[in-house]
Amino acid sequence: MKKITIAIDGFSSTGKSTIAKQLAKELSYVYVDSGAMYRAVTLYAMQHNFISSSFFDIEGLVTSLDLIVLTFKYNSAVGFAEVYLNGMNVEKEIRTLEVSNLVSKVAEISEVRKSLVQQQQNMGLNKGVVMDGRDIGTVVFPNAELKLFMNASATTRAQRRYDELIERGDKVTFDEILKNVEYRDFIDSTREDSPLVMAEDAIAIDNSNLTLEAQFEKIYALVLQKLKTV
Ligand code: DC
Repeated sequence: MKKITIAIDGFSSTGKSTIAKQLAKELSYVYVDSGAMYRAVTLYAMQHNFISSSFFDIEGLVTSLDLIVLTFKYNSAVGFAEVYLNGMNVEKEIRTLEVSNLVSKVAEISEVRKSLVQQQQNMGLNKGVVMDGRDIGTVVFPNAELKLFMNASATTRAQRRYDELIERGDKVTFDEILKNVEYRDFIDSTREDSPLVMAEDAIAIDNSNLTLEAQFEKIYALVLQKLKTV
């Protein structure tokens, strides 16, 4: 069967990665979490003192971009490809609230975006890829056969993120998570370079009131329908 490219965009914590992973598994496609790449660059910037909550040495980070090597390696124990920063598995470190609070600043930098978009496009050369992010249907794969745009209310999203972090053992409050979700929505959708907007040909899915099963069924039906036409 012919392979397609599936682009899943949307606001933070809308369950993009859950659905993307499920689709990739069902279709035997490659799943790429583009947000993990922005997070890994942010982690690198933190480790090298280019960024903190009070300053940002943009030039320092930009001149170091060639030293940042990002790779994905499939981990059968978790069922998806985890991100490696210069050979180190950083899947856990990139999910902290500290990284979440700084990543939008890093994702605003055009040089960072240019470098990551190029790498993402290379990963999709052979199709058969499900990629989630903010600009996948608009910038990375404008010709993707299927584009989805996910949304849910800010409180629903903050609750999901809060539950995840608490489950991991992180000490966070619901209010700080809600603030982070709203802050990232604002920066992500108002930045100059590749703001988060829905592609004209994307299908909008609001999953505030959808169970994971109902959502998967709905989206998988869209995929099957698309596969019949390519
Ligand atoms: O999907 P996520 O929440 O892990 O993404 C982290 C941040 O990275 C998000 O706040 C915006 C940025 N991002 C982006 O600008 N473009 C993408 N394609 C993916 C993520």
